[in-house]
Amino acid sequence: MSELSGQTALITGSTSGIGRATALALAARGATVVVTGRHAERGAEVVEKIQADGGTARFVAADLLDPGDVARLARDAGAVDILVNNAGLGSFGPSADITSDQYDAMLHGNLRAVYLLTAALAPKMAERGHGVVINVSSGAGTIGDVNNAVYGATKAAVNSLTRAWSAEYGPSGVRVNSVAPGPVLTSLPYEWIKGYVPLIPLRRVAQPEDVSEVIAFLAGPGAAYVSGAVIPVDGGLTAAEPPKLVG
Ligand SMILES: NC(=O)c1ccc[n+]([C@@H]2O[C@H](COP(=O)([O-])OP(=O)(O)OC[C@H]3O[C@@H](n4cnc5c(N)ncnc54)[C@H](OP(=O)(O)O)[C@@H]3O)[C@@H](O)[C@H]2O)c1
Repeated sequence: MSELSGQTALITGSTSGIGRATALALAARGATVVVTGRHAERGAEVVEKIQADGGTARFVAADLLDPGDVARLARDAGAVDILVNNAGLGSFGPSADITSDQYDAMLHGNLRAVYLLTAALAPKMAERGHGVVINVSSGAGTIGDVNNAVYGATKAAVNSLTRAWSAEYGPSGVRVNSVAPGPVLTSLPYEWIKGYVPLIPLRRVAQPEDVSEVIAFLAGPGAAYVSGAVIPVDGGLTAAEPPKLVG
């Protein structure tokens, strides 16, 4: 028996990046995986990879900016034991340059969708007496990240939801945690994030698997007593003292 056998995992944004790596990691541990995103072609690639590796997966298309689609996804996914709220989006730049539409997209994609999906699925986990919710936050939710104010605010709010839901659903056997990655090599070009390397104590950016392995641990029995935590997965970036400008 693999450690997640018999459990169904829904991972948002699992057509690429951290979500894709998480889908592969949870499937490898025996979970039946529901892959979701907007792009069916990329979803099919992830499902085929999981099946080729001997796992079980299916794709459900959904646009998380649409509350109706979020509700349909919650219905189509069926009984979910492990929910990974991973999908996210960001518009970066000076605060005065962020448009109202960009603001709305970040709030709706990074916060409202997480809220609506969890509110639809966590009570059912609570009724069954077990379940795990893992929110993919960001170091930007903890530190003051220049040119990243709105995105950081959505991730700080997600960390707040994590603590509130841990308190709300914990008595019914549902654990809720966040992981807070630093820079991860996914859809952004390396050129955009390589400037962080000298600031990261481990002196490299993350690969998606650096994050997905922590998510897989949080989903499994080894993390049975972990709830309400925001776990940095950032090579020490947010723990480190900033570089000194003068001696
Ligand atoms: N990469 C980093 O450096 C980094 C650092 C800290 C935190 N994070 C967080 O980690 C999470 C994953 O990031 P990533 O870099 O792995 O992302 P990514 O490679 O850019 O992938 C984003 C995923 O989200 C899905 N998605 C985007 N908008 C969507 C929408 N409107 N409806 C449904 N799905 C949508 C995409 O699927 P479709 O395209 O198929 O819709 C895709 O699967 C995000 O929450 C992000 O904020 C990332």
